[in-house]
Amino acid sequence: PASCSQIPEAWRFDCYPERGVVVTEEMCHARNCCFIQNSQAKTSGRNGVPWCFYTPEYPSYELVSITDTEIGKVGKLLRNKKTYYPKDIDALQLEVLYEEDNRLHVKITDPAEKRYEVPIDVPVVPKTASSNPSYTVDFIKEPFGLIVKRTQTGTVLLNTSIAPLFYADQFLQMSTSLPSRFIYGLGEHRSNFLHDVQWNTLTMWARDVPPMELTNLYGVHPFYLSMESDGMAHGFFMLNSNAMDVALQPAPALTWRMIGGILDFYVFLGPDPSSVIAQYLDVVGKPAMPIYWALGYHLCRWGYKSSDKTWNVVKEMRNYGIPQDVQWNDIDYMDRALDFTYDTMNFSTLPDLVKDLHKHDQHYVMILDPGISNSLPSGSYWPFDEGKKRGIFINDSNGDILTGKVWPGLTAFPDFSNPDTHEWWYQNLKSFHEKVPFDGVWIDMNEPSNFFDGSLNGCPENELENPPYTPGISVLTKTVCASARQKISTHYNIHNLYGLMEAKATESALRKITDKRPFVISRSTFPSQGKYSGHWLGDNRSQWKDLATSIPGMLTFNILGIPLIGADICGFGGSTTEELCVRWTQLGAFYPFSRNHNSIDEQDQEPTAFSPAARIAMKEVILLRYSLFPHLYTLFHHAHISGHTVATPLLFQFPNDEKTYGIDKQFLWGKSLLVTPVLEAGQDYVVGYFPKGLWYDFHTVSHISLETLLETQNSLTLDGQPLNLIVSLSEDGLAKGDLYWDDGETLDTYEKDQYAYIYFTVEQNTMTSEVLHNHEEAAYITVETVSFYGVKVEPENVTVNSQEAAFTYRDNQVLTVTDLGLNLSRNFTINWM
Ligand code: GLC
Repeated sequence: PASCSQIPEAWRFDCYPERGVVVTEEMCHARNCCFIQNSQAKTSGRNGVPWCFYTPEYPSYELVSITDTEIGKVGKLLRNKKTYYPKDIDALQLEVLYEEDNRLHVKITDPAEKRYEVPIDVPVVPKTASSNPSYTVDFIKEPFGLIVKRTQTGTVLLNTSIAPLFYADQFLQMSTSLPSRFIYGLGEHRSNFLHDVQWNTLTMWARDVPPMELTNLYGVHPFYLSMESDGMAHGFFMLNSNAMDVALQPAPALTWRMIGGILDFYVFLGPDPSSVIAQYLDVVGKPAMPIYWALGYHLCRWGYKSSDKTWNVVKEMRNYGIPQDVQWNDIDYMDRALDFTYDTMNFSTLPDLVKDLHKHDQHYVMILDPGISNSLPSGSYWPFDEGKKRGIFINDSNGDILTGKVWPGLTAFPDFSNPDTHEWWYQNLKSFHEKVPFDGVWIDMNEPSNFFDGSLNGCPENELENPPYTPGISVLTKTVCASARQKISTHYNIHNLYGLMEAKATESALRKITDKRPFVISRSTFPSQGKYSGHWLGDNRSQWKDLATSIPGMLTFNILGIPLIGADICGFGGSTTEELCVRWTQLGAFYPFSRNHNSIDEQDQEPTAFSPAARIAMKEVILLRYSLFPHLYTLFHHAHISGHTVATPLLFQFPNDEKTYGIDKQFLWGKSLLVTPVLEAGQDYVVGYFPKGLWYDFHTVSHISLETLLETQNSLTLDGQPLNLIVSLSEDGLAKGDLYWDDGETLDTYEKDQYAYIYFTVEQNTMTSEVLHNHEEAAYITVETVSFYGVKVEPENVTVNSQEAAFTYRDNQVLTVTDLGLNLSRNFTINWM
């Protein structure tokens, strides 16, 4: 029809999204869509303006009834024309739940037959808690559409009427306009922090692949944060675990395209970015409070080859006084890559190494992969024999244990959707812990990764293996068959949850074994993962580019509620250079999770492997991290109780400054510590953006006593370490800050009231430290110095709790009050005149 050409290119919604297909006019007309060819070639990920797109009157659903409920509305949708995918669900139920003033929840389900739903806990709100919602919902009858607006400004946050709704058994599609092109989240992909809306399709299907652009990676997070034109922000979460495409286009608009499950989504009203994240985490769960040593420096590599070599690295680090809290081992510690074993030849001293680490207040973490060898003589490998007996492995569609291949050769895969598997996993961990008393667990290859496509025997032909629409790359590659059977559903539905469910099993096993806060790092992740584990960004390379892209990766996972995040420092694949490794250690010292990890057969890259100058530079920055530990720990506390980010995008603090929207070469720790790292070779200066406000250069202004730390500290045991506070005053001489402190490892200290919380404020030349919640742990900490940045006039006199005190004043406007000896567990005031 003539109306086709009137649809602006940016508003053309793809009627033929199948990848790798060059659509012809005939094919397009068979779908009753508009066909206008243009010169843009279709390439994977960057699809370009679609040649085949929906007409405005394209058949969709009709809203035939809508009525009020206690919590919102319930409606009925009907479709009377079939789509071009099989098994349309013609009658749907629409539920609109006004759950909170700042949270709208919408569910569209099949009332005739229960469909698969994601098994994660979300709040159940029986009656509306919302008396004064900050949103309105309008309904369009035909074709059916939902329009969600922000009450205060009228901004349209969601408008699904811009393209037809699809709800077939294996193809669900919903489009929405976006209020701006500023959109973030939608992990896991390698990209800038700010997504590109120029025909950019992000596929979601957990996959083991070295991070690269325009393809799906290890984890799946169907959540985005979107900025509105006035600095306000909202979020959107699609609670669906099936394979999907999320297509962005310059309208700006977004299309969800899922191959199963239901339509179940939330809108979070913010209105500031940080509140959006907190509201999202109210639904999926806030991150766990990490055990203190998780925030120390970690060393790892694939291919130490023996426990003695591993031990030597630790000893070298100690000799040079470089802090290290955790030593790790990769698969080479295992006997023939078998989980729950260790190589008693080359790693014979592993138990002694772990004891020695513990003696030095250091900790040990080792890798576990989900693949369990299925081909050892019966009776020789308990994990498989027992697992088989208990029926805890993933079965193929015939009901036989599915055989895949991972590091140990042929393997079976534990089905972590089965509670019996959790018990079996725990028993394995427990008996291994009796031999090697590890402190935490690294779970890898849990997409799950399989060296076969599907299984040893391939996969059967059926509609799960060959869905009518396949998002992004083929569903089958390098994992188990989609039609494989798991306890709660087919692998097709729960593939993306494998890492989450394994993390859950590992977390609960560790709780029981250590009775401390579990430390788990997982490669594959899904919403709510932060409750159970942290994450690292996977198999990067020792390249400058990978150093830079680690920042958007880190920021994205912070907004996805997994703040315990970092990249392999100095790079995993390929060989690093000294300069790159120094720069990476400097940036990595500000990763919330700071681990140097290296691939097999690459040149050594621990700090001790380099020249004295490089080694010292690395040591200094790791010490700097350690000196900031109380601050970092406090940020994690806020993540845990309030859903804040730890590594924070600049736009969170400056949502009214559009210049910050694209920044991902700098980031904040919390609200005020701005990190501007060197990301290029041969640079000895950095260029950064400094939003409006007063900024102090930490390095030139601060003279915190690295010296004392230099001599003493191998690990984060802070007992007896003095606290040196830094106060940066605003233009008006104001400041505030806080500190959360507990024993660092006991479970649920906040929930059980076993913590200290101290609040600091400065106004009118007076600092007040107020203990809002006290605990004996704070009594072990002595505040030794307080430095005030931005004291414009040299004081004549400084008092601490009304007593005269010693101080220094430098012409860079830093006042340092020294020799304080103040007990952190008591209130104090410092005044200068
Ligand atoms: C995977 C992991 C990597 C690990 C390797 C060997 O590639 O991502 O970190 O070193 O397997 O276990």
